Amino acid sequence: MAQPTNEAIEKLLTKGIRDMWYVFCPSSFVKDKPISIRRCGYKIVLWRDRSGKLAALEDHCPHRGAPLSLGKPMGDRIQCDYHGVEVDRDGIAVRVPGSPGCKLEGMKATRRFPVEEHAGVIFGYVGADAHAVPAKLELPEQLTSPEFSHFPCYVEWKGDYRYVMDNVMDPMHGTYLHKMSHSMAEGEVQAKFRIRDTQSGFVFEKEGQRDVNFDWTEFIDSGIHWLRLEIPYPKTGGPGGNFHIIGTCAPIDETASAIIFWRCRKLSGWQRDVWRFLYKNRLETRHWEVLEQDRRMLAEFEPDARDRELLYDHDMGLMRLRRILKQKAIAQLTAQTSAA
Ligand code: FES
Ligand SMILES: [Fe+2]
Repeated sequence: MAQPTNEAIEKLLTKGIRDMWYVFCPSSFVKDKPISIRRCGYKIVLWRDRSGKLAALEDHCPHRGAPLSLGKPMGDRIQCDYHGVEVDRDGIAVRVPGSPGCKLEGMKATRRFPVEEHAGVIFGYVGADAHAVPAKLELPEQLTSPEFSHFPCYVEWKGDYRYVMDNVMDPMHGTYLHKMSHSMAEGEVQAKFRIRDTQSGFVFEKEGQRDVNFDWTEFIDSGIHWLRLEIPYPKTGGPGGNFHIIGTCAPIDETASAIIFWRCRKLSGWQRDVWRFLYKNRLETRHWEVLEQDRRMLAEFEPDARDRELLYDHDMGLMRLRRILKQKAIAQLTAQTSAA
């Protein structure tokens, strides 16, 4: 069978591989009014019913394409403001008030996005098929175990989401870009790295240095692509061990990315209270300062930077990650061609 073209692979990767969960937005973004967001090449409307249960559809009325987000939420359905067509949470046009019994009524006409909320964040499933049944979304222990305490941080940055993933899969930038920070000033300025495979991904780690600086990153594929890392805290960071970061990102479009990550620490009881207090009063500002260094750097990358790289050993992690994404894209495009 013919291989998908590089152009087709790049197009799919730019929009995000299908049949995956992606971060949509913080739960707090969706209150009593519908909102509209862009993710993975789609404009998406999100709303809640009276009980707070979420629904997400393509923000496109099946009649003539008016944005459903300008319509009225009616529990498990939303009514388009243009001519009153009602679409339910499964994407079925359940009522056409201007022409009852017409062909549109009863049609599964609108793409739906299964949604789940965890740890203060809305995740959406982007299927290859408009009504795909979602895969299981598995969360890392940092978000599910009561032993961890965490703060969600959501940002939208200029630039391709893959530069964000590359940035996290590149621990060595901690030693240089963040050398003046409170948590990444220590350790060797040179390193050798290795890749260690895990059950659901791989770890890219320094040889001979751990728990000194940003020394490793893990890629986890569990229905969504997670990136995980730990950085040691200085004594002034209060009780608890390493500082854990777990995050994921999604393409908004070719020029912007939605990023969610949680700042976590494994502690309980009074130690948890001390850390949460310290975080809010002192540490959070410092963390955002460090993050600003990343944001500034990535925002200034030219869109074709990836085509003009001269990589070395420290880039093995991001090369492996890119290869995994590319192989997934190829498999998906090939499956689509054979199904067609
Ligand atoms: S465009 Fe929505 S009802 Fe006509
Ligand atoms: Fe960074």
